[in-house]
Amino acid sequence: MAIRQIIEIPDPLLKQVSAPVTAFDAELETLVADMFETMYDAPGIGLAAIQVGVPLRVLVIDLQPEDPDAEPEACDHDGHHHHQPTKREPQVFINPVLSDPSDDQSIYSEGCLSVPEIYADVERPARVRVQWQDLEGKQHDAVMDGIMATCIQHEIDHLEGIVFIGHLSRLKRQMALKKLEKLRKAA
Ligand code: NI
Repeated sequence: MAIRQIIEIPDPLLKQVSAPVTAFDAELETLVADMFETMYDAPGIGLAAIQVGVPLRVLVIDLQPEDPDAEPEACDHDGHHHHQPTKREPQVFINPVLSDPSDDQSIYSEGCLSVPEIYADVERPARVRVQWQDLEGKQHDAVMDGIMATCIQHEIDHLEGIVFIGHLSRLKRQMALKKLEKLRKAA
């Protein structure tokens, strides 16, 4: 496994439409393992293959990216430490397809490893159906809601060459890009 470099806007690769996976082989397994390592290192909760420069329809998601061995940080009002183990829940989506978006919408503050330090509210369908394949090529089908629904839609956008700031109004997008430019200059 290896940590790969995450590409950032305005890298033109991020606008590329990714191609379907046809070979469920060792190379794909290595790509997915590297994507998890890269995502956990960043850290982030989702990553599309194009973000490490590979234009294939592959996503990894883990909504609980905390280190399972980390010391608990939370203290309650009595000063007692509560052990709150956070388990990793790695999920792989190969060739994911969205359908049946709900009429009701959800708004979450989204961020993206390819748009570092920038967060903005994005409105998306609250529930979606997703069909995908796993590393063995086996088909899966599920209805997703909550943060998972937002996250999978954000990641599937990457496969179509869309970054989340593309969902913002022109004014808000310009503000986000200016902020990013400032942060980069300061770094
Ligand atoms: Ni992203």
